[in-house]
Amino acid sequence: MSQGTIYGVGLGPGSQDLMSVRADRLIRQASHIAYFRKKGRTGHARSIVEGMVAPDAVELPMEYPVTTEIPFDDPRYNALLADFYAASVARLTEIIDAGGDVVVLCEGDPFFYGSFMHLYTRLKGRVPVSVVPGITGMSAAWTATGQPVTWGDDIMTVLMGTLPEETLAEHMMKTDALVVMKIGRNLDKVRRALTRAGREKESWLIEYAAMPQERVLPFSEAGDSAPYFSILVIHGNGRRP
Ligand SMILES: C[S@@+](CC[C@H](N)C(=O)[O-])C[C@H]1O[C@@H](n2cnc3c(N)ncnc32)[C@H](O)[C@@H]1O
Repeated sequence: MSQGTIYGVGLGPGSQDLMSVRADRLIRQASHIAYFRKKGRTGHARSIVEGMVAPDAVELPMEYPVTTEIPFDDPRYNALLADFYAASVARLTEIIDAGGDVVVLCEGDPFFYGSFMHLYTRLKGRVPVSVVPGITGMSAAWTATGQPVTWGDDIMTVLMGTLPEETLAEHMMKTDALVVMKIGRNLDKVRRALTRAGREKESWLIEYAAMPQERVLPFSEAGDSAPYFSILVIHGNGRRP
């Protein structure tokens, strides 16, 4: 029996009609659908494809271990996640060894700050793996502002809100165009870094880009909290005719 294939499929930012034709085809034809989710939740990736999955498809939720009580820099945190990814890889490999294909649902683009990458690096070279790119969340975010993000030779920087304030401020100061992701609980720190860099007035906050609850506001109007699905954008102002 020939081995099946694991497909890491980019779903785009959260609207079914922003998915590629290839992603749409693979999801509708899939015999096995895998996706990450928090314990007890539906999983955002799974909710994006609601109505597309065949009724007889086998679903394989991969539930993140609960890590809230362990700090990021504790070696136990990495060990727990490494075990989780190893167990997920073993589960998927068993299916493709038996000849089945598995579609792994990935928000946005699979190779852009995603979880699938942790499976991919463990699978590559051992079993057939194929990746389908997707429209990133940040692309939907700057589109929602109705303004182009980079012109001419603008330099664009992508930062994660999880970085230290000092690092954020340093890069915010230097760049032309800016994207900050993973804002959520880091909102206050991101705001302080923007102020230090003198860039707060140019910033936009986009919540749930390309989803029904999409909201675009000047960053100065953001409250005390931002949802997990939010992105900060500063537009470049580079060379143009
Ligand atoms: C783990 S990263 C996943 C990125 C994803 N692979 C991509 O290509 O956009 C999660 C972060 O992406 C951002 N994000 C992704 N999609 C988004 C959307 N539709 N609206 C707002 N933020 C989004 C948020 O900042 C969120 O904290």
